[in-house]
Amino acid sequence: MQKKIMAVFGTRPEAIKMAPLLKELRKNDNYKLIITVTAQHREMLDQVMELFQLEADYDLDIMQERQTLSGLSARIIKKLDGIIAVEKPDLLLVHGDTSSTFIGALTAFYNQIEIAHVEAGLRTHDKYSPFPEEMNRQLTGVLADLNFAPTKKAKENLTLENTSENKIFVTGNTVIDALLSVVASDYKFENKLLQSIDFKNKKVILLTAHRRENLGEPMENIFKAVTRLTAELTNLEVVFPVHLNPVIRELSQKMLADNDQIHLIEPLDYLPFANLMAGVDLVLTDSGGIQEEAPSLGKPVLVLRDTTERPEAVEAGTVIKVGTEADKIYQQAFKLLTDKNEYSKYAAAVNPYGDGKAVQRIIEAIDFYFGLTKKRPEDFKIR
Ligand code: UD1
Ligand code: UDP
Repeated sequence: MQKKIMAVFGTRPEAIKMAPLLKELRKNDNYKLIITVTAQHREMLDQVMELFQLEADYDLDIMQERQTLSGLSARIIKKLDGIIAVEKPDLLLVHGDTSSTFIGALTAFYNQIEIAHVEAGLRTHDKYSPFPEEMNRQLTGVLADLNFAPTKKAKENLTLENTSENKIFVTGNTVIDALLSVVASDYKFENKLLQSIDFKNKKVILLTAHRRENLGEPMENIFKAVTRLTAELTNLEVVFPVHLNPVIRELSQKMLADNDQIHLIEPLDYLPFANLMAGVDLVLTDSGGIQEEAPSLGKPVLVLRDTTERPEAVEAGTVIKVGTEADKIYQQAFKLLTDKNEYSKYAAAVNPYGDGKAVQRIIEAIDFYFGLTKKRPEDFKIR
């Protein structure tokens, strides 16, 4: 008898990181996969679904402009409950730390459905940073029956919280599986602006910023730092694919639009975005996923946050947690862009988050969980 697995997710990064797993589950005769998207994101989610040729069986279509956390959570739980009650899956699969993740897990729990959590165990232990993601991930962890921890460190975090060892599998992060499937050395950009950038002779920074705790003054500081960098370094170009959040769009327009070294562009589809990351000199970001991807492309990253739940790349020496003070961001970026020795220290390609086989390990772990195999998958180990 096929086991029924329902995946629930709603944002761009969840879709990117779930896609390689869902594609394999769809092909697997042991499982019947049902995809439910909350559509907490709309356009940013849809382009990933299209790229990976995934179709949703249910689409809750809950996104609203300037949505509040309570509002979006309420809309998800109301719509998801009926679907879970009718479908009664054997396992509900969620990913990471978004509101779709936590509310998906909570709704499964109310229906007494077992829960598997992909990318489990990352922690800052700071309730408000990242906000609300740290608590979304912790609360999902409490509810989960199966935890797919990307690294040994993430497993340790879970065991410290008394999660039973046999519920935890160290799998690597599926983001590396996704990344390896889209980056190509001969990739050509369709975007005219990207085509016009002289990646060989210019210094290029890729900037992304979207975290709720950075809205307001921290984001103004980030924009000030980048503006100062362009004033000091005339051969610098900054590419900023601006998140669709209207608060970010307004501020970036106000502070950066007049600067012809700074290119504000629409969010890029994952395929050009990943290939852009592979072509730039330096990444400035408050994103979670980009902190995992850029190191495996050998790109130094300045993390525009005071905390990170991803310490592995900081330890490996490719990510620097720089915070959100304008001066610090400026100093650190300037040093990396102008000092070759300093740059090469941070540009070593290391892969603390995965080897491209996370999906395989997760499926083996699900097989093991359902008793389809007696063999526990081997843990992913950082080389
Ligand atoms: C959400 C997640 C965050 C994740 C991020 C990835 C939560 C609480 N936050 O934050 O963990 O890192 O996604 O990007 O779950 N919008 C659109 N179209 C889109 C997407 C967003 O217009 O396709 C606009 C809407 O006005 C929306 C706003 O962006 O109200 C914010 O979206 P929301 O999902 O609430 O927050 P994110 O910052 O994207
Ligand atoms: N990304 C993308 N287009 C963009 C910006 C980011 O495809 O214009 C991808 C990026 O490669 C990564 C993911 O989106 O896989 C990260 O999403 P985001 O930064 O929004 O969320 P987080 O990882 O912080 O949850």
